[in-house]
Amino acid sequence: MKKVAIIVGSVRPNRRSSQVAAWLKVQLQQSNRVEFDVIDLKRVDLPMMDEPKIPFTGLYNHAKTRAWSNLVSQYDGFVLVFPQYNWGYPAVLKNALDYLAREWQGKPVSLVTFGGHGGTQAQVAMRLVVAGLKMIQMTVNLQISLMPGDSIATADRLLHTHDWEADLLRQEFERRLS
Ligand SMILES: Cc1cc2nc3c(=O)[nH]c(=O)nc-3n(C[C@H](O)[C@H](O)[C@H](O)COP(=O)(O)O)c2cc1C
Repeated sequence: MKKVAIIVGSVRPNRRSSQVAAWLKVQLQQSNRVEFDVIDLKRVDLPMMDEPKIPFTGLYNHAKTRAWSNLVSQYDGFVLVFPQYNWGYPAVLKNALDYLAREWQGKPVSLVTFGGHGGTQAQVAMRLVVAGLKMIQMTVNLQISLMPGDSIATADRLLHTHDWEADLLRQEFERRLS
């Protein structure tokens, strides 16, 4: 079965991104044609880019980079779940993307952003990055409006108003990867 990784794109304590990723996984895993896993960048725990050669060479000095390369290579597609930070994306996510090159190339990617206004600017900024990595941006991308002060229960209720979009995303992955 084809596999898609849902990447949790922020790492600070009490982050909201893990709640968003958990909700999305429950929605997407209703598929019986594509498998969905969560990859948490906090667990991957990469240092700021410390490889001496450019990633396109695929020559990695560090064991952590090789492990990250092996993990990403196992997946046929990706969902990046991330908040808006100052009209952009979290640095930790850009760093994790920058570490690799061929491992991302030609693979479908959906952007699931959140913030006061759905993380719109973060999503626009990330579109350039995934284009630079030669990934294929999916048609279905989500923008979820969540306020920093929202309780877990409120955020959960708001997330469920996007269930239908998550279902469209599941269907798009099934079409692209079957
Ligand atoms: C450094 C930082 C910058 C932020 N900038 C924005 C912003 O530009 N627009 C916005 O709507 N929310 C912004 N927020 C609010 C976040 O979208 C909100 O706190 C979200 O829960 C952060 O995701 P996280 O909990 O997974 O880190 C910012 C939050 C942080 C920590």
